[in-house]
Amino acid sequence: AFEGLRDRYGRVATDMRLSLTDKCNLRCSYCMPAEGLPWLTKDSVLTAEEVVRIVGIGVRLLGVRELRLTGGEPLVRADLVDIVAALRAAHPGLPIALTTNAVGLDAKAAALASAGLTRINISLDTLHPETFAQLTRRPFFDRVLAGIEAADAAGLGPIKINSVLMRGINDAGAADLLAWCLERGYELRFIEQMPLDADHGWTRDGMVTAAEIRTLLSQRFALSPDPRERDGAPAERFEVRPRMGRTHDGAPSARLLGTVGIIASVTEPFCADCKRTRITAEGKVMSCLFSHEEVDLRQLLRSDASDEDVAARWQDAMWLKPRAHGMDHTGLGAGDFVQPDRSMSAIGG
Ligand code: GTP
Ligand code: 5AD
Ligand code: SF4
Repeated sequence: AFEGLRDRYGRVATDMRLSLTDKCNLRCSYCMPAEGLPWLTKDSVLTAEEVVRIVGIGVRLLGVRELRLTGGEPLVRADLVDIVAALRAAHPGLPIALTTNAVGLDAKAAALASAGLTRINISLDTLHPETFAQLTRRPFFDRVLAGIEAADAAGLGPIKINSVLMRGINDAGAADLLAWCLERGYELRFIEQMPLDADHGWTRDGMVTAAEIRTLLSQRFALSPDPRERDGAPAERFEVRPRMGRTHDGAPSARLLGTVGIIASVTEPFCADCKRTRITAEGKVMSCLFSHEEVDLRQLLRSDASDEDVAARWQDAMWLKPRAHGMDHTGLGAGDFVQPDRSMSAIGG
């Protein structure tokens, strides 16, 4: 019997993130170079059958309780809806989420919902089409908006919006983006930029910190800690109210407008509570977004190995999970951070 995906520091991974492709139709500068990356060949990427098998091993043998499909851009895979349907048929009660940039989602949202997708997180860094084109190097702003609306209409909510702030590019629009999400009932999360860009252009000083994000938002909104349990979630949530002095209805206490999250991976790392295990598009276990060791499962999947053999190797890989990433100059493992060779798109967001 397997005890689950435990590491040597006592954390148990129950949250599985599976990348379906390394390809993407955008070129966000914090992730990919303009020219793209050398993509994996078709036969090195896990097939739909292999994906279903590996999720089955995670759920039945290793205690996986939640699944998130990532990329690259998972919508680039023509068989995405079939994969979701097959996973849903095999695991009626499993929460299955998708992280996507929403390009092309308008045509797929309804099918994904009927196939059994539970919920969706969408990247949107700006409300300005020109800034979007500058940041992602593609003129697809309208397609993303259409995708978000289609996901909402298909009932794939509550929709979360992920936004990476870049100094001097989209940071001035943070409060506008929050207002826009609050009006629509989307939960916005601002993400500190991590050193996972293929160009290795990240600098600690260039990064917009969580503290700065709170200051930016406080010019328009009053933020207070969300009393709900955080439970290992990467985002620290805040309740959002209108700033006093700006309410025009004379109400004594400001109305709750919604919540906002801040994912402070660099300045306030949550490694100690991490519950994630990742599988890359080519079937390698990454115990952490920043681990330098990758353990291949594909070769086993393509041999006559049993599910138990695959589970045992996966479990061994997780035992090696690092204690913390050490990205910042303070905290655990400070100072010895080395940026992984892979970009976010190649690891799985
Ligand atoms: P839910 O909270 O369940 O909706 O999902 P999520 O926030 O885990 O998923 P999503 O794919 O939307 O991830 C949002 C952001 O969290 C990513 O863009 C990363 O910046 C960050 N993130 C995801 N996984 C990790 C991780 O393992 N380590 C760190 N440090 N950050 C991560
Ligand atoms: N730092 C932080 N977040 C990143 N993402 C991509 N690259 C980075 C990075 N270097 C985010 C995207 C998307 C999610 C999958 O990962 O914005 O929301
Ligand atoms: Fe594509 Fe996501 Fe990377 Fe942007 S962040 S280039 S949408 S994989």
